[in-house]
Formats: sequence, structure tokens, C-alpha cells
Amino acid sequence: MTTSPSPSQLYRDGLFEDRVAVVTGGATGIGLAIAEEFVRLGAKVVIASRKMHRLIPAAKGLSRDYDAEVEPFRCNIRERSDCDALMAFAVERFGKVDFLVNNGGGQFLSPAENINEKGWKAVIDTNLNGTWNMCKAAGEAWMYKNGGRIVNIVADMWRGFPGMAHTGASRAGVVNLTMTLAVEWAKYGIQINCVAPGTILSTGAHNYPPGTLESMYVANPLKTMGTCEQVAWGVCFLCSPAGDFMTGATINMDGGASVWNGRWPVPDPGGPPDIPVPPWPEDRWPEFAVDPEEVDG
Ligand SMILES: NC(=O)c1ccc[n+]([C@@H]2O[C@H](COP(=O)([O-])OP(=O)(O)OC[C@H]3O[C@@H](n4cnc5c(N)ncnc54)[C@H](OP(=O)(O)O)[C@@H]3O)[C@@H](O)[C@H]2O)c1
Repeated sequence: MTTSPSPSQLYRDGLFEDRVAVVTGGATGIGLAIAEEFVRLGAKVVIASRKMHRLIPAAKGLSRDYDAEVEPFRCNIRERSDCDALMAFAVERFGKVDFLVNNGGGQFLSPAENINEKGWKAVIDTNLNGTWNMCKAAGEAWMYKNGGRIVNIVADMWRGFPGMAHTGASRAGVVNLTMTLAVEWAKYGIQINCVAPGTILSTGAHNYPPGTLESMYVANPLKTMGTCEQVAWGVCFLCSPAGDFMTGATINMDGGASVWNGRWPVPDPGGPPDIPVPPWPEDRWPEFAVDPEEVDG
């Protein structure tokens, strides 16, 4: 099914014409919405993650629907050599990289005492070391010489992260890294900021027991959940001229969860908002679906 290209509901057409963006985790959920908003606004985009069976339909679908240039690239951000290969590919294919969005990441629900060494290291390696790997790779391949914008997707972990100690620790590390790099890399013309989403109903909902994310609407004073598009708008804000004077900052997009300690009662609307979980790329663009066994082994 062909979907007709929809214009941005927020930004002007052509805002990112001639711009090139790399989005990790860009085939699913929040990352796909970020890639789609970039493409809508005229950018060329490389989407990268581990699963080609998700990347291929997403890249083909976006290219077709927006008559745009979108490339899939296999990359495990835990591996520095993969990150270097991704940045080299983007520079070779499109001639430059203006924007890097470090969105790829993951974690699992567990009380801290049940997180074993392997699980702890896997989450830190992805969310913290993966972001570091991508920042360094982007700097060396393009941004130390030419500048650029980096946006790191973190999380609402400001008062700890009960149930996900590993992700809280890794995202707090990324926020601090962002502040340091904002100062050290200003001389290169690199601006680096974070977006910290609260509960966003994304494809990530499939990674938790059914209903887990959906029930989280009560945990913020706006008593709702965010959408992938809203996070994409935050990222595009930082990459647009609106972000020209911003670096080292974090935008919280969490319905006020980070400032609400629960002691001030906020009436419950009586049920969760009607926000649909977005489809996987192979469900959204079934004509471009590929056999996972064949492309991912
Ligand atoms: N949804 C929320 O409420 C929420 C809130 C705060 C923060 N976040 C963060 O926002 C980001 C996007 O999440 P989402 O909700 O859109 O969930 P999602 O659909 O599960 O997205 C996670 C993406 O990260 C990629 N990824 C995971 N490990 C990777 C690795 N080692 N190398 C490269 N890519 C990797 C995945 O692709 P592959 O499997 O193909 O590698 C996937 O596309 C994640 O970092 C998530 O933790 C989400």
C-alpha cells in the first residue's frame, strides 16, 4: 500500500534540504519517526541498526513515499569498527554528515539485584559506550573538520530509574558526556544536546510485558503518553536554526514526569489516552518486507 507523503505538521518544507542525517535505531519507533521527519523536510538519511529485515523495508518505504534518498546500513553501535564503517558509508554516499542522532539503544525490566553481569554490561555497552563510539566515529569521519549537530536520545532518569538501574546509569552518563563534549568540541563547530523522552508509545512497547508502557500514563501530571512524532519534532528543533544557540542542553519531553513527585495530586482522566503502538516497518510497508533469515542469518 502506498501512503501519500504527508507534510510536516510543524516545520516548513525544505528546512533540511541538502542536509544529511545519520539516525541509529532509525528503522523502528522513535528513530523511524525522526528519520521520517528529516526526510519530510528534505534531508538525505542513513538509518542504521543491527537488523536488516527492519532497515530494508523502512529505507525503501521512506524513499518511495517521499521520493527521498534513504539508505539502510547494518551497524552494531557496541562495535567501534561498525560505527566507523557507518560514518564512512554516509560520507561516501552523501558527501557529508550534518546531523547524527544517537537513538539506538535498549534495556530490560528487572530489579537491580536480578541484573547479572552480562545484562548490566550489555546495556551499558549499548546505551553509553554505543553513544560514545558513534560520537567519536562522527568526529573522526567528518565533524572535527566540518562541524555538525549531535542529538542523544536519553530518558527520564532524573530521580533514579527503579526497575531499570542499568539504563538509568547509562543515560545519566550520556547526559554528562554531552555536557563535556559540548564544551570540548565547541572549537570544532560541533553542537551536542540531548532529548530525554518520558513514556513514549513506540515499537519499544513490544519489548515489555503487554500493557506495561500503556499503563504509565498515570506517572506524569499531563496524564498521557508521548508520541514518536513529538520526540522527532524535539530532535528537529535542535538541528534547525532554533537550535543555533544551544549546546550541552537536555530537552525533557516527559509530560512533566521529571518535575512531579506525586505529592501534589493531579486528577486522573479515567483511562489511558488512545495512542496506537506504531507498526513494525515490515507491517507498514509489506511490499518491501524481506526474509529475516536471509538478511540477518
Ligand atoms: N519508548 C520510550 O518510552 C522511551 C523512553 C525513553 C527513551 N527511549 C529510548 O529511545 C530509543 C528508541 O526507542 P523506541 O521506543 O523507539 O524503541 P525501539 O523501537 O525498540 O528502538 C530501539 C532501536 O535501537 C536499535 N538498537 C538496539 N541495540 C542496538 C545496537 N547494539 N546497535 C544499533 N542499534 C541498536 C534497535 O534496532 P536493532 O534491533 O535493529 O539493532 C531499534 O531500532 C531507545 O534508545 C530507547 O531506549 C524510549
